[in-house]
Amino acid sequence: MELHYHGKKSISEILEGTPAYPFDGDLNHGNLLINGNNLLVLQSLLKRYDFSGKIDLIYIDPPFATNTTFTMGSDRVSTVSLSADDEVAYTDCLRGEEFLEFIRERLILVRELMSDVASIYLHIDYKIGHYIKIIMDEIFGAENFRNDITRIKCNPKNFSRKAYGNIKDMILFYSKTKNIIWNEPRSTFSEDDKTRLFKKTDKNGRAYTTIPLHAPGETKNGATASEFKGMKPPKGRHWRTDPRELDALDAAGLIEWSPSGNPRKMIYADEADGKKMQDIWEFKDCRYPVYPTEKNLDLLRTIVAASSNEGSTVLDFFCGSGTTLLAAKELNRNWIGVDQSRQAIKVTKEKLKAADNMFSCNSYSYLEIDLRTAEERDMSA
Ligand SMILES: C[S@@+](CC[C@H](N)C(=O)[O-])C[C@H]1O[C@@H](n2cnc3c(N)ncnc32)[C@H](O)[C@@H]1O
Repeated sequence: MELHYHGKKSISEILEGTPAYPFDGDLNHGNLLINGNNLLVLQSLLKRYDFSGKIDLIYIDPPFATNTTFTMGSDRVSTVSLSADDEVAYTDCLRGEEFLEFIRERLILVRELMSDVASIYLHIDYKIGHYIKIIMDEIFGAENFRNDITRIKCNPKNFSRKAYGNIKDMILFYSKTKNIIWNEPRSTFSEDDKTRLFKKTDKNGRAYTTIPLHAPGETKNGATASEFKGMKPPKGRHWRTDPRELDALDAAGLIEWSPSGNPRKMIYADEADGKKMQDIWEFKDCRYPVYPTEKNLDLLRTIVAASSNEGSTVLDFFCGSGTTLLAAKELNRNWIGVDQSRQAIKVTKEKLKAADNMFSCNSYSYLEIDLRTAEERDMSA
């Protein structure tokens, strides 16, 4: 399936036809904050600085084709009603096919920067997101589509439209290949979950449940096919772990034996590491953000922790106020942030400085894309 629209370039036009420029600043740092148009920045990272295949995680939260100007200290402003005092953070004025191609060009370039274990999360809304999904299928392959995450973004509001209220946006999650970095995220049990799932209580009043010690699939040889307390695993099954470990669990009092002699592992509610995270997330944004459309830091912490490792490089090329960079920094990942807005860079620098003061370090290199011709550069050298 493909999306056809006016002005759609060929992949080679995008890869070969986008110019690359040098950066002004020191590139010998794991963390880079780059001010400039991200199309040129991505191509420069690719063609001039050999970042090809070096990025493990991308999160982007681009403009959503809303035809709005976003000003500092306010959520949004219609373009016609700007006053002289309004400090513009960024404008979101591309619509329809122009917007789609704007995103597509960048996705085609950034795919080249992704490592073979990389993932990309694209934050978008319900109005344009379904078109972007088709474009992402084209670029990354429908087989590498992992999730359409529903993000609850705010409390219910009174909408005047004749439609249901909108309290969610979407995050499209794709990978470059089948084998990705994946640190299984767990969400904590609610009190309701605990009551429902941990129905038993031990002699000290601690809530617990039990799970079987064996799993489906027969193994003929090896430790998990051998005897535990003189018992073979039931037919068609194998022990979940080496019987020597089962002996240790039993000695620690963590195996419950049924009256008929069936052993099960005890899992305590206060020690269980949460449940599998599902695809509806509640991470509401701050009501009075420093930067308009600033995203929830916990949302980014979750994504960075799940889809990158310590030492990975995380890229956000619509970085705004630097939420992704901050999450990456906290979790010991390297990061690259790009934004063309001076206001965005200013806020990001302030946030990073506050974090640096906490960790007493100077943690990044600031770069600007240098759009001068070689001749102009020589003249000023
Ligand atoms: C929705 S905001 C990102 C907010 C960010 N996630 C945060 O938590 O603060 C989108 C950002 O994309 C930037 N942007 C838009 N077009 C760009 C381009 N062509 N190159 C670089 N940055 C761009 C805007 O300046 C804006 O800061």
